Amino acid sequence: MISNIDTLLLTSSEKDIKTAAQLIIENKLVAFPTETVYGLGGNALSPTAASAIYAAKGRPSDNPLIVHICDTKAVYELATTVPDKAVQLMEAFWPGPLTIILPKKEIVPDTTTGGLNTVAIRMPSHPAALSLIRESGIYIAAPSANSSGRPSPTTAEHVADDLSGRIDAIIDGGAVGIGIESTIVDLTSDTPTILRPGFITKKMLEEIIGPVAIDPTLIEPDPNLRPKAPGMKYTHYAPKGELYIVEAAHKDTSNGEAAHKEIADKIIELYNEKKELGCSVKILAPSEHAGFYNKDDVITVGSLSDGVTVSARLYAALRECDAAEAEFIYSESFEENELGGAIMNRLLKAAGHKVILVP
Ligand code: TXA
Ligand code: MG
Repeated sequence: MISNIDTLLLTSSEKDIKTAAQLIIENKLVAFPTETVYGLGGNALSPTAASAIYAAKGRPSDNPLIVHICDTKAVYELATTVPDKAVQLMEAFWPGPLTIILPKKEIVPDTTTGGLNTVAIRMPSHPAALSLIRESGIYIAAPSANSSGRPSPTTAEHVADDLSGRIDAIIDGGAVGIGIESTIVDLTSDTPTILRPGFITKKMLEEIIGPVAIDPTLIEPDPNLRPKAPGMKYTHYAPKGELYIVEAAHKDTSNGEAAHKEIADKIIELYNEKKELGCSVKILAPSEHAGFYNKDDVITVGSLSDGVTVSARLYAALRECDAAEAEFIYSESFEENELGGAIMNRLLKAAGHKVILVP
């Protein structure tokens, strides 16, 4: 296990990007910002660097890495076939928060793909990420830069909390914009299939390439089905405390405020029960609803009027629960449309699918 390396703290200045690129060239590990979450970068074509990434994160080695590129030409060097639909998606959404799965070429080592014969490829849009890939001239494998199992990092501080002393450098690009990981689309099956929901929604994909399926394990957790993205099987993103989602049994949009009052009352009841037992408790709610709860224990997660403010805050909020040593966390749920579907996918996983229905 890697430990006690001096972790350099870098900015996204031209000089610091050069320093970081040199480290990547030397098979070292550099965390860097992307528009989704911070990634832990290393040479994707080097089994040594890929193994170092798994070791630093404490990640199971059957969980493949995404290869980050800065030029679409790279796709043809990494994949044996590039179907028209892949080209259409690349044109529509790259650079941006979309990862595509294609059959891999020999040059991509098994260490990077967890032994699979496919490869995940993405062109991020964050300028620091693009500069690092371009300056190093290397395809960069980058899982989220958290210790395995913890929420993905959305600031350089989150990365340092998890990986300081275990990696060579961190590029600080401030808080990321989107906050949840890229949408993953598998293009190796007849119907393109979403393996992980994200900012690029099913509807956005279908506008470009027609019908898109969703991996059935994303819709209903089923112990007999294996998710096609190996990483989706892990209890991920989880805070240390027990997290419950409290939501309406019957979602009646015509009666939003009254229905919400019942949810807030239920959360307050659960909160009070645990507080009386002397437990540390936190509540997650959008800013519009924060006023319902004890101001010392409510953590706000964006605004209902703008989904990306929720995704941008979600992982930071879960980490704040850990920092406060919360033993119990009660979260409101969010609408499951569009980006909300991706947010609820992460929140449900973080909660281990523990949902309390009201009434
Ligand atoms: O937004 C993102 O995608 C971030 C930033 C850093 O780019 N990266 C990220 O990587 O989320 P990671 O390693 O935390 O998640 C990669 C996911 C895992 O669930 C993994 O199983 C899946 O992608 N994956 C990678 N290669 C795959 C493949 N060939 N087939 C199916 N799933 C794959
Ligand atoms: Mg991850």
